[in-house]
This record gives sequence, structure tokens and C-alpha cells, in this order.
Amino acid sequence: MITLKRETSFKPNYEIRAWKYMRLSAILLVPLVWIHTIINTLIVGAENINLNFVATRWANIGWQVYDILLLTFAFSHGVNGLRQVLFDFTQSHTARRILNMLLLLFWILLSLVGASAILGGIEK
Ligand code: HEM
Repeated sequence: MITLKRETSFKPNYEIRAWKYMRLSAILLVPLVWIHTIINTLIVGAENINLNFVATRWANIGWQVYDILLLTFAFSHGVNGLRQVLFDFTQSHTARRILNMLLLLFWILLSLVGASAILGGIEK
């Protein structure tokens, strides 16, 4: 009997989850990045963006949540993608472990800096 259904029985490991995360975050990034770009470049205009504009935006909880989501998904997508690119040049298990640790640390530290700026807002 011919069956078209392919059965696979393997446990998804860390790398498979990381790859799925790239696609999931890419779907979320389409509205997040597009809305951000359309508002800032086409509606407001890059020439009108200054500290005052940023302060007004971050005084609003809705924009704070939006920018936190953008930071979370764009930066984790970018760093995970960079990790995959760097893995193409690394074969050793130890080197990959070190790379994972360094990139995780880099991602956490910069995310904390970004999140504290967004949530702390700007004193006018
Ligand atoms: C609308 C926004 C975006 C979309 C739709 C998108 C989509 C994608 C998709 C579909 C992949 C391939 C995932 C796979 O392995 O199957 C990918 C990979 C990647 N993305 Fe994005 N992306 C977006 C924004 C970004 C941003 C903002 C960055 C950087 C901060 C970035 C950096 C990367 C990198 C470095 C890779 C890995 C490339 C590789 O493996 O060779 N992307 N992206």
C-alpha cells in the first residue's frame, strides 16, 4: 500500500527550536518592522525625529510596549541569525559552546540597556 504521510519520530533539539524561532519571529517582524518604518520614515519623516519626539513617544505606555516587542523580536532574531552564520565557520563543539555563551551574554546585556532606556523614558 502506498502512503503519502511521512512519519518522523525525533525529539526537536535546541537547534531545531532555534531554527523554528527564526521563522516565527520573522512572521512577527513583518508587522512590527513595517509599522515602525512606515510611521518613522513616511509619516513622521526622519528629519523630524529628535530627542523631543522620542521623549513624547516613550511617555506613552502603548509605544513602550511596542518598542519592547520590536527590540525583543528583532534583536533575538538578529543575534540568533548571526549565531547561525558564525556556526557555518565553526566545526568544533567547544567553539560553538563558547560562541553560544558569548552571544547569549551580548544579547542579554544589550537587551537590558535597550529595555531600560525604553522603560526609563527621557527627562525633558
Ligand atoms: C521583516 C523583518 C524580517 C523578516 C521577515 C526576516 C525573515 C527571515 C527569515 C525567513 C530567515 C531564514 C530563517 C531560516 O533559517 O529558515 C531569516 C534569517 C536571518 N535574519 Fe531575518 N528577517 C527580518 C528581519 C531581520 C533583522 C531586523 C535582522 C537583523 C537584526 C535579521 C537578521 C537575520 C539573520 C542574520 C538571518 C540568518 C541568515 C543565515 O542563516 O544565513 N533579520 N530572516
